[in-house]
Amino acid sequence: MKHPKIILGIDTSCDDTSVGVTHERRVLANIISSQDELHAPWGGVVPNLARRAHEANFPAVYAAALDQAGITETDIEAIAVTKGHGLAIALEVGIEQAKQLARRLNIPLMAIHHSEGHFMANFAQDESGARAPIDPEQIIFPALAILVAGGQTQLVQVNEFGHYEVIGETVDDAIGEAFDKGARLLGLGYPGGAELAQTAEQGNPQAFQLPRPMRQSGNLNVSYAGLKTALLRLVRELQAKAQANIDSQSEPAELSQTVIADLCASFQAAAVETLTYKVELALEQFGYQQVFLGGGVAANQLLKESLSEITKKHGAELIFPYTTQLCRDNAAMIAVTGWLKADENEFVTNLDELDRDPQWTLPS
Ligand code: KG4
Repeated sequence: MKHPKIILGIDTSCDDTSVGVTHERRVLANIISSQDELHAPWGGVVPNLARRAHEANFPAVYAAALDQAGITETDIEAIAVTKGHGLAIALEVGIEQAKQLARRLNIPLMAIHHSEGHFMANFAQDESGARAPIDPEQIIFPALAILVAGGQTQLVQVNEFGHYEVIGETVDDAIGEAFDKGARLLGLGYPGGAELAQTAEQGNPQAFQLPRPMRQSGNLNVSYAGLKTALLRLVRELQAKAQANIDSQSEPAELSQTVIADLCASFQAAAVETLTYKVELALEQFGYQQVFLGGGVAANQLLKESLSEITKKHGAELIFPYTTQLCRDNAAMIAVTGWLKADENEFVTNLDELDRDPQWTLPS
């Protein structure tokens, strides 16, 4: 079988319905239908709502992807779909659609690990091929991949393509989850990571002291649950102080915009430093020459700047996807991964047996 060039990627692993099209590594389309508004009232993703929304949105997202790529169904040569990790009932929708298409179009199907997709997004090129962070031949193994998202915080050693080793991870909340919970506490939107980061621009990161846990843990793991609790305590203290300064007994005192901006800046500084401290330890211990970034929190400017500083200090290079659209959950990264992995032994041989794997760990 010849190596397919036009790949359709599908990702329904959490709360974004996404279909992407690539020609080899070039992204022709990357449509993402976000469900943020749907889940906002609950302050988190509600799995059965996510599933129903994926089912309802898929046909339009698929049609939009073909349209943006300027292709018809018969041009698709292979399909790559996220098999895990993720929410089981959300993953099922993408897998079912992928199977139906593979059968109808009589083309091969590949099952992709979502985290491998975030790493491989670094090899995606824009449509013209001009913008591309790195070519696969330029990778220097072992490399370090930092995966930072709403549901994930991992330091992964990439030993070879397809062979990974998790060397550090969160022991509780993910960094994106911490940003979202912090934002919620401060009355910002959902998911609030981007808004918290934006508000932090007006604040002083040294205004409040927040914890940087697990520095002495002797390993590369991080923890974010304590940061959220410390912020909650601080907000309550500040509200109580503000209350004491006003006469009204009934309404809880509101924090000023300046205090909120300082809280955001202090919170962001703690969240970023917690991670960069462990990344620096990893660089010292293993001497990586390349550090790859992936996941929605890779959009955070302070994180990028801090990682860039420490990688430079250790003579390493920081690499991240050419657009933030390829950092967040998206299907073009799944298609690129499919293209990079597409040889016959990566194709699913029996479609009936393909099932979602919500806890799928990266292959070692
Ligand atoms: O990878 P992603 O799209 O999906 C999940 O794993 O959920 O990442 C979304 C996460 C959310 O937690 C969001 O708040 C966070 O990425 N995020 C940010 C920023 N932009 C998105 N966190 C901090 N700073 C940002 N600029």
